[in-house]
This record gives sequence, C-alpha cells and structure tokens, in this order.
Amino acid sequence: MKNLNHCFSIADLKKLAKKSLPGVMFDYIEGGAEDEITIGRNRQVFSEYEFVPRVLRDVSTIDLTTTIQGAKSQMPIMCAPTAMSRTFHYQGEKAVALAAEKAGIPYSLSTVATTSIEDVAKISKGTKFFQIYAWRNADMVKNFILRCQQNHYQGVMLAVDLPTLGNRERDLKNGHGHARQHRLNILKGALRHPKWFYRFLTSPPLVLANMVEFLPYGGDAAKAMDTVNQQFDASVNWEDAAEIKKMWGGPFMLKGIQSVADAKLAVEMGASGIILSNHGGRQLDGAPPAFSLLADVKAEVGDALEIYIDGGIRRGSDVIKAIALGATACLIGRPYLYGLVAGGEAGVSRALEIFRTEMERVMKLIGCDSISKLSPEYVAKL
Ligand code: FNR
Ligand code: LAC
Repeated sequence: MKNLNHCFSIADLKKLAKKSLPGVMFDYIEGGAEDEITIGRNRQVFSEYEFVPRVLRDVSTIDLTTTIQGAKSQMPIMCAPTAMSRTFHYQGEKAVALAAEKAGIPYSLSTVATTSIEDVAKISKGTKFFQIYAWRNADMVKNFILRCQQNHYQGVMLAVDLPTLGNRERDLKNGHGHARQHRLNILKGALRHPKWFYRFLTSPPLVLANMVEFLPYGGDAAKAMDTVNQQFDASVNWEDAAEIKKMWGGPFMLKGIQSVADAKLAVEMGASGIILSNHGGRQLDGAPPAFSLLADVKAEVGDALEIYIDGGIRRGSDVIKAIALGATACLIGRPYLYGLVAGGEAGVSRALEIFRTEMERVMKLIGCDSISKLSPEYVAKL
C-alpha cells in the first residue's frame, strides 16, 4: 500500500496506517480487552446475515440522506468519539471534524480529546456532538455542558460503558497510561517512523484539551492518563444520567447500551438516542456485538428513540444491514482513525468516501433506492 490513492477499502487504509505509526500507538487504536473475542465477534456478526436482493427496480439514483438527532446527515454514518487524536496524526480532531463536515455527517468529540470543544467549534460548522464521561469531579461535567451550550454543539452523548477501564493487555505491555514506560516505548517506535516523530516534536504539546484546568500537569496527555483513569466514576447511576440530561436540555444519547433491558430504561429516562456499543471491544470481553442486539432492541423500543450501533463496521454493506434492521445510523471509530493516521484530513475523507461508494453500490445491488425504504425484508439471518 503506497498511498491513499491505492486504498480501495478500509482494510487498505488500515495497512497504510500500520506502517505510518509507532507500534505502541497502533496497538492502542487496534487493541481491545483481554482475548479480543468481542472484537472478532463485532466483525463476524455481519457475515451471519445475507441480503435478500430485489431486481428490475429503478436504482439509477440512490438517496442515503437521513436525520440524526434532528440534524440532516448526508449518509447514515457518524464519526464516533475517540481519545487523543493528535497523538496519531498532528492534524488530530480538527481533521476528523472537517472531513465529517465536508461529507455532511456528524462528528463526535471525546471528553479525552487533544483538541478543545472551543477549537473544534471554531473550525467546523458541521453537526457536532460531545461525548461525556461522568467524572468523580462533578464540576467538570457542568463545565463541559456549559461549554457545549456556548459553542452550539447539537447533542451530548453520555458514555455509560466505562465504570472502569477495560483490561487492555496490549496497552499494559506497552506501558500505555504510565508516563515513563510509555514515553520510552514511543521513542523506540518513533525512530522508525521519522515523519510521525517530526510532527510530534514540532506540534503544540499534547494535552487533554477539555480538562486542562482540572488536571494536574496542565493536562499533559501522557502524564495525565493515570489521573484520568482514576477519574472514571464507578458510582454513576440512572439518576445521575437523568441529571446530566436535564442540565443539558437538548438531544441526549446514551452510548454503550448492551442489553434490551437497558434500552427500555433509556426510553423511560427520556433519552433521544441510544448507541448500542461495546466500545469497539475495548471494555468487556464477552460483551455482545451491537448488531446482534439490534433487532430485539428495535422490537422492544420501536420509534421511541433513535437507535445507533457501532463496533466492527468496516464496509458499506455493514451499515446497510444495520439500517435494514432498524438502526438510524452507525458510528465508526477505527475506520476513520486508520484514515487519519494514513493521511490526515484527506485520509479521513478517503475513509468516508469508501463508505459512501460502498453503500451506494450495495443499495443498487439490492434494489433499494433510498435508505428510508430499507426494512428487515432486505436481510436474512443464516
Ligand atoms: C474509542 N472509543 C471511545 N469511546 C468514547 O465514548 N470515548 C472515547 O474517548 C473513546 N476513545 C476511543 C479511542 C480509540 C482509539 C478507539 C478505537 C475507540 C470507542 C468508539 O467511540 C467506538 O465505540 C468504537 O471505536 C466503535 O468500534 P470500531 O468502529 O472502532 O470497531
Ligand atoms: C478508550 C477510551 C479512553 O481508549 O474511551 O477507549
């Protein structure tokens, strides 16, 4: 894989990304919890469904547009929140937000981003959601909400699958989260990736930009990771989530729902969306893939809220299968990170373009001209 022009699939972008980044960083992106069984299942479930293609229908134009939390989206995809993008490529979160805006889809900014709520808002007029972790320090959450309001974010997603960090053994081995060991291992890899290293050395310091004033060391990303891990509040419950929702007062999604029972509770608490997710297999190994929960959740909650899924979405066909079974949209994490690593904003755009063309082609091949017309009749479980 030489460059972006030679990347025709997300798998191609992944190969290019792997070559461009120190192994410690690539492992952080790619890895998951324990035996990474859930990561494998996240991919496998999509091959457990086939399409039921229809023919001799006019599919000369395909409509992929939809509405996500009240905002128009050019396709049923959004960029998932991911931590510390500037460590992967110097353009970081801004590149992802800009590529998302150009593709006309929502971007979600992570609490532990290396670009602030304000800086992303300054460069992107596209639809923006902010992902919140409920920290032990409640002032932080209030501060996030206020800043999202001031900077006109369209929605908030509360991540509910992280009462503690998953057991990510690749990161433990690499010393991720432990400043000294981490830096040493990155240095080793950096010497073999001089382009990345040059940018790393010449870019502004890597900070957890949304929390600079709350963290020791001025939010220094490497040193602060330990502190951050201690900040995840394991006592957060449904009442707390309802409080945060009330404080925000706008579109509110729960990210990390993993059962039909909790999807029902999300409806009861008045959430406007749920993201069925196992955090890309990074939290609980043995958690169910979102796609395998989708039909049951849809049957239970109907249209009471919008349902999104993520985890293992690597092809346009995965998205189309999910929409057919009742999802409003899918989130992608690693696919756009591969693009970011491989080529900054242009790489993210390439990833999004690959999804767009794959979705359009699949829609033609299954004989459906609009994602609003997709239904379970277009898929069959093996
Ligand atoms: C994530 N994810 C994540 N989720 C979240 O709510 N806040 C975060 O800060 C992060 N950080 C993060 C970093 C990296 C490197 C990855 C790969 C993922 C999870 C993310 O939002 C999403 O749920 C998964 O990435 C979806 O799975 P795929 O598309 O990566 O398979
Ligand atoms: C992740 C975080 C921090 O690495 O959500 O998955």
